[in-house]
Amino acid sequence: MADITTSAADKKEKEYFLDVPQQTPGFFLKGSHQYDWGLKNRLSRVFNPKDGRTVMLAFDHGYFQGPTTGLERVDQTILPLEPYADCLMLTRGIQRSIIPASTQKAIALRASGGTSMVSPFEEWEGELDGKKIKFGRPGFEPLSNESTALNIEEAIRLNASLLAVQVFIGSAYERQSLKNLTDLVDAGARYGIAVMGVVAVGRAMARNAQYFRLATRIMAELGAHVVKCYYTDEGFDTITSCCPVPIVIAGGKKLPELDALKMSYNAIQQGASGVDMGRNIFQSEDPVAMMKAVRGVVHEGLTPDQAFAMFNDLKGKK
Ligand code: R5P
Repeated sequence: MADITTSAADKKEKEYFLDVPQQTPGFFLKGSHQYDWGLKNRLSRVFNPKDGRTVMLAFDHGYFQGPTTGLERVDQTILPLEPYADCLMLTRGIQRSIIPASTQKAIALRASGGTSMVSPFEEWEGELDGKKIKFGRPGFEPLSNESTALNIEEAIRLNASLLAVQVFIGSAYERQSLKNLTDLVDAGARYGIAVMGVVAVGRAMARNAQYFRLATRIMAELGAHVVKCYYTDEGFDTITSCCPVPIVIAGGKKLPELDALKMSYNAIQQGASGVDMGRNIFQSEDPVAMMKAVRGVVHEGLTPDQAFAMFNDLKGKK
């Protein structure tokens, strides 16, 4: 068995070669130079070949939490942002009902689901040392009990470039979610459609570099062409270094605009290939200005302060 906890392996320092970029001869995108034409072409729609980066606009949250704040009316709040995104991450329901089929943007299609934020959590009350206490089954979080949620023919009909699948490493449903990933990788491989494994962090999991290194690497090893995870203040460069395919960061819950721009900047500086950001854009006080500021960081090399100045300058202007 490899070095899970074996003491000899734990004593040897890990070596991430942080100063040595991984080579991708003949193609611009990390780890993607040996794929077939169609797959490379689809990835070139998601990631800009000029800089290898992407600003993906994520608004698929409704697949498990319904009308999320800022997404009550996608036609009103998201369509104005479409011109500034490289790629739209969404569900098939929203794609068909709201997004004009004339869009030139790459599509990242939500391909897993089947549970909701109100799925019943198995817990019960009992007594311990005379005190009432709640018991639960650690790791059995209902949200992680997903299946694949579309077939490959549907992905082709919707002209998807990328399929997004949630993976719950360390949860009781880890095996099932990894099977969802590998099933989609196999199906996508038949038609040259890429798969993005999304690290889903359960309540019992620590959001640290050690966990994200494990989760992102497992997904890449099992065939994910792109991996999405959260930014970590400590050791994010070790996550990107030992993941052989591009990593994009999720934005997470809404932060002050400058903090979200700093997070995006730091992630890019430490090897992320872009952002797949939702709430920090569509819940911003000015989503179009924020979208342009995030683009400034990802594609134009703006510092967080420069991008924040841009945000303030554009804010409130039509
Ligand atoms: C969440 O599960 C969704 O898949 C979102 O696409 C993802 O979390 C990114 O959105 P946000 O930036 O709001 O975290």
